[in-house]
Amino acid sequence: MTKVNPPIAMLAELTHRCPLSCPYCSNPLELARQETEIDTETWCDVFRQAADLGVLQLHLSGGEPASRRDLVPLVEAARNAGLYTNLITSGIGLTEKRLQALDEVGLDHVQLSLQGTDPAMADEIGGYRGGFARKMQVAEWIGEIGFPLTLNVVLHRRNLHQLPRAIEMAQEMGARRIEVATVQFHGWALKNRETLMPTKDQAREATRLVAEARAKLKGQMVIDYVPADYHEDLPKRCMGGWGSTGLNITPDGLVLPCHAAQTIPHLTFDRVTERPLAEIWHEGSAFNAYRGTDWMQEPCRSCDRREIDFGGCRCQAMALVGDPAATDPVCVKSPHHGVLQQSAETYSAQDDAPLVYRGFSETPRKVRSS
Ligand code: SF4
Ligand code: FES
Repeated sequence: MTKVNPPIAMLAELTHRCPLSCPYCSNPLELARQETEIDTETWCDVFRQAADLGVLQLHLSGGEPASRRDLVPLVEAARNAGLYTNLITSGIGLTEKRLQALDEVGLDHVQLSLQGTDPAMADEIGGYRGGFARKMQVAEWIGEIGFPLTLNVVLHRRNLHQLPRAIEMAQEMGARRIEVATVQFHGWALKNRETLMPTKDQAREATRLVAEARAKLKGQMVIDYVPADYHEDLPKRCMGGWGSTGLNITPDGLVLPCHAAQTIPHLTFDRVTERPLAEIWHEGSAFNAYRGTDWMQEPCRSCDRREIDFGGCRCQAMALVGDPAATDPVCVKSPHHGVLQQSAETYSAQDDAPLVYRGFSETPRKVRSS
């Protein structure tokens, strides 16, 4: 039986509403509509339950969390519960006054997303004209107020050449950390694999640039890096291991072991309005489905990395192999690894297709990508 420690972090998806429509959005294909969102009082109770359970860090995310009118009281409630609060935002919807109010109630940290390093790229990828200019204004206010800042840049074939400038921008903004994340192909991103899949050369160059920048900026800025895993040989330790360090709450109150867990069809999820959070964490069937190593098949079962990467990402195994208990095909020991690498080569060699922008509707908007 796997020993269950308390979670360290909780991601609260306050809403799925978002002014941007990024073609790699990691939210589920079926978004929670505004009328199903849990209310202020319920979120406040969830924050207190999370703190009692042992959660230390609360990541307030979306969609765009600034789309929630009660963002300030929510942050206040989380701080009163003793949680470290991090706002994950595109910046759209934040005014100087609102940021000051967030500062007054104790918001600890801001994570600002970057879709590109110039208006043309950023506005095209985010599908929001004028978004880059507004984001730069918000970055200035964040600096003036003095929030600790992480810049999060999502990279793919269209914008990987902008990585050096993104690192420079993080320095100019006074960020303490930059998260360089290559697009992970789950959910909506799968609709844009042909256009967004980096080439192997781009992936290698990004890894080289990150290593170089880490050495140069040691002691000044931390660089987190999520490589283009279709081109890798070892999988990532997704979520730090299933049900081991973190949990996600959807806008309508479902408690998930990871943001993409709803893509695993046989799992059932508890709702925080119907069952105490601690009970869901310890006893929920979805959390226990892939905890520890007992569920593993070969080659993971007998592999000496099984408690290092926990077999990679369950949702990726589901998406690519149709079996969430399979070895993540990113692993060189997976029988599907060769097919995955070949598919990465094939996708990355495709001509740019029109981007399929994220929308609430399953009939997505297509806009020419050049
Ligand atoms: Fe990780 Fe499984 Fe690959 Fe071993 S076989 S490295 S545990 S994914
Ligand atoms: Fe679900 Fe990796 S995204 S386990």
